[in-house]
Amino acid sequence: MAQKIVAGNWKMNLKLDEAIRLVEVLKINHIESDVRVVLFPPSVYIDTLSHRIDDHIELGVQNFHAEAKGAYTGELAINQIKSVGANIGLIGHSERRAYFAETNDILKLKVDAAVSQEFQFIFCCGEPLMIREAGEELDFVKMQLEESLFHLSKDEMLDRIIAYEPVWAIGTGKTASAEQAESMHRAIRTWLHEKYDEETAQSVSLLYGGSCNHENARELFSCPNVDGGLIGGASLKSEVFCEIIKSY
Ligand code: 13P
Repeated sequence: MAQKIVAGNWKMNLKLDEAIRLVEVLKINHIESDVRVVLFPPSVYIDTLSHRIDDHIELGVQNFHAEAKGAYTGELAINQIKSVGANIGLIGHSERRAYFAETNDILKLKVDAAVSQEFQFIFCCGEPLMIREAGEELDFVKMQLEESLFHLSKDEMLDRIIAYEPVWAIGTGKTASAEQAESMHRAIRTWLHEKYDEETAQSVSLLYGGSCNHENARELFSCPNVDGGLIGGASLKSEVFCEIIKSY
């Protein structure tokens, strides 16, 4: 059974005092449902926040490097990240792909590094507007998964997390309809079944991301193949994020 997850990707937002306040309010609101809650703050805050979270909140990083150490100025290795209290990272967010030239090959290296170092990850995929308008979104997303993720063995793929984030819906206020989200998620589940088996397909959590907020979360989360959300802008406001978590 796939885990239910609501994750907040803060991107390059919030100062440290604002981040601390947000975590404190999330704690006060006692997120005690069976939904797994993961926050992806700017990495420089992880150490501080790791001392302030409670058992219901996990911390992750928005990015990491595939190499274990070395001369990679500005980058962070998995063991460094683990040492300050985060055990999960995003791989392949569309902003990393677009602004930092992260190709499917680079993302595959990150997937392999994470698997070998027992670091959990959320693998992000999603098509740009032009591809959606051409009606080629299924082929596009399938290729992203095949080139970076589907080389894993069945054992390595069990219980993984994939986030479908259509690029045209990110930060635009233009969310995918529940039908559009469900249709892509159903397709991903089917590919997992074809490539692996039913047990694997059912174990993978499929999150939706892209202008998800407290007003549309309930409808999106009610789709049979939507196991949660990766929330950007709406995760920066504690009341809104809490409401999204409670929409499950
Ligand atoms: P928004 O929720 O701001 O559209 O961002 C989604 C996202 O990119 C989460 O990773």
